[in-house]
Amino acid sequence: MKNLYFILILPILLLANINSQFQDPKLCSACHKDEYNSWKKSLHYKSHDSKNELYKASINYVASRTNKAREEILVECATCHNPKIEVVNMDQNYTFAKLFDIQTSKTKQIDEQIGADHLKNGVSCYICHRIDDIQEDKNGKYSIKWLHGNDMAGPFESSSRAEFHNTVQREYFIKGDKLCLICHQGQGDNNKFGQYNTGKETQASKTTKRCVDCHMGEPKEAVNAPHIATNQAEIRRVRSHLFIGSQDKKLLEDTFNISFNQAQKKLIIENKISHNVPTGFGGRVVEATIFYIAKNKDIISTQTVAFKAKYILANGKETLSYVANGLESDNRFKPFEKKEIALHPIKGAEQIKVAIYYHRISPNLALDLGVIDGEFTDEKLMIERIFNLY
Ligand code: HEC
Ligand code: HEC
Ligand code: HEC
Ligand code: HEC
Ligand code: HEC
Repeated sequence: MKNLYFILILPILLLANINSQFQDPKLCSACHKDEYNSWKKSLHYKSHDSKNELYKASINYVASRTNKAREEILVECATCHNPKIEVVNMDQNYTFAKLFDIQTSKTKQIDEQIGADHLKNGVSCYICHRIDDIQEDKNGKYSIKWLHGNDMAGPFESSSRAEFHNTVQREYFIKGDKLCLICHQGQGDNNKFGQYNTGKETQASKTTKRCVDCHMGEPKEAVNAPHIATNQAEIRRVRSHLFIGSQDKKLLEDTFNISFNQAQKKLIIENKISHNVPTGFGGRVVEATIFYIAKNKDIISTQTVAFKAKYILANGKETLSYVANGLESDNRFKPFEKKEIALHPIKGAEQIKVAIYYHRISPNLALDLGVIDGEFTDEKLMIERIFNLY
């Protein structure tokens, strides 16, 4: 078994070699408090259905649309959301038993594996730091090999200070995006539209910036594991484990440039980022609203443009990518793309105010999914600008 690679894309996983002493991130916090406290605020921590209403509702929605047991969908999605799930054999008998609410020793065993406590920490320390090797095949599918024993992979040369675990250096902590793309590039399920494409978008942009440069911030000098054997401590370059994303005001603010061509009455919105905006999960929407303002400051008209990938069912209704029959349109910002918006000729307007908002889930889809928590449904202001029309 030792040399087998586990293909992330398949819902059939190897018994994931869980070294129980490394399962609980709280243990790491004893020596790596900063990493732990930051990670706990990140969406990586919230990638289990017990911590994420939107994810949970999406699983239920996909299950009901495909007539599968929700557990079956959960296992499919877990390949990235909870990759150390141990379910190895999810067959038709299980689905059948679940749909008719029958309990067998087999369903009991699988349910226990799905409900395992350690999975509730989502994408936690023992996932990224227990990866021994990452391979990409010619179709761009990633597979990984887990580390064994007491090894912990990271960016540094071996350290004699770490006694609780060994340390091993791995290249993907230092160079490239492979570590992130295991999950941020790939198929969410068997539907060809259920695709996460941030890696390919980034490659097309020809950027030299890595995911970690923007999402883990600039490296800082610090002692890694500050409380342990301080006399041997080396100063290291460490990065934030907040994995800042759409919850981060500053990051959202830094996404676009907005300018105005007064002669042609055109707005120009430029994506400063090396991947699509929005990228990743197909339910995201970015929306630009233009307010036309009169001399007395009244808003006399508005114009709204939504930027998203719109996935549809056979009847044309908007849906999640995982169960879509087609992609109706995709006007998301490509890497570094500039888009022009022609203004409406509004009589009496002297100024315009442009506001760009980020929606973690499209409002139409939120309704269908029954997601109501403001954490997911509140729109977030990314950037706002005012221009004189004349
Ligand atoms: C008893 C203290 C202790 C605990 C508990 C601990 N570590 Fe460490 N860890 C260290 C020390 C000490 C180092 C080496 C620091 C150095 O030399 O800069 C280290 C280094 C690391 C590194 C860097 C490895 C490299 O070579 O780049 C990673 C990653 C890491 N630990 C992850 C973890 C994770 C994940 C856990 C929880 C499963 C954990 N540690 C638990 C003390 C600890
Ligand atoms: C094991 C799979 C996996 C790996 C490896 C992984 N991620 Fe993630 N990441 C996820 C999942 C799943 C989510 C969404 C969690 C949720 O919200 O339910 C996520 C969310 C994020 C977010 C938040 C996005 C948002 O909408 O705000 C950022 C940023 C991010 N990851 C960056 C990274 C970076 C950088 C790396 C590489 C160092 C990385 N990820 C590696 C699975 C992974
Ligand atoms: C190939 C890996 C992968 C698979 C498989 C996968 N996801 Fe994801 N998922 C991600 C990543 C990475 C993110 C973060 C991207 C982002 O924020 O846009 C994410 C984000 C999400 C989000 C947004 C969560 C939030 O907190 O805003 C939802 C909902 C979601 N996935 C549902 C699903 C469902 C349902 C399935 C199974 C049908 C699934 N995913 C399968 C990688 C995956
Ligand atoms: C130049 C800085 C930069 C780099 C490099 C970068 N990102 Fe982002 N990323 C952003 C910004 C800004 C946002 C917020 C705007 C947005 O939502 O797209 C973002 C958003 C995201 C999101 C949230 C999903 C969403 O709504 O769009 C995910 C997931 C993500 N990035 C993953 C990645 C991955 C994976 C890589 C590496 C392949 C990467 N990013 C490289 C700046 C960057
Ligand atoms: C999504 C992947 C991912 C997860 C989850 C993750 N890390 Fe890391 N970790 C990284 C990357 C990438 C680096 C290297 C950062 C850099 O470029 O220096 C790193 C670096 C480290 C280091 C070296 C010092 C530093 O902070 O840069 C320690 C220690 C560490 N991680 C501990 C942890 C602990 C503890 C957890 C859980 C609470 C954790 N990591 C969760 C990806 C991850």
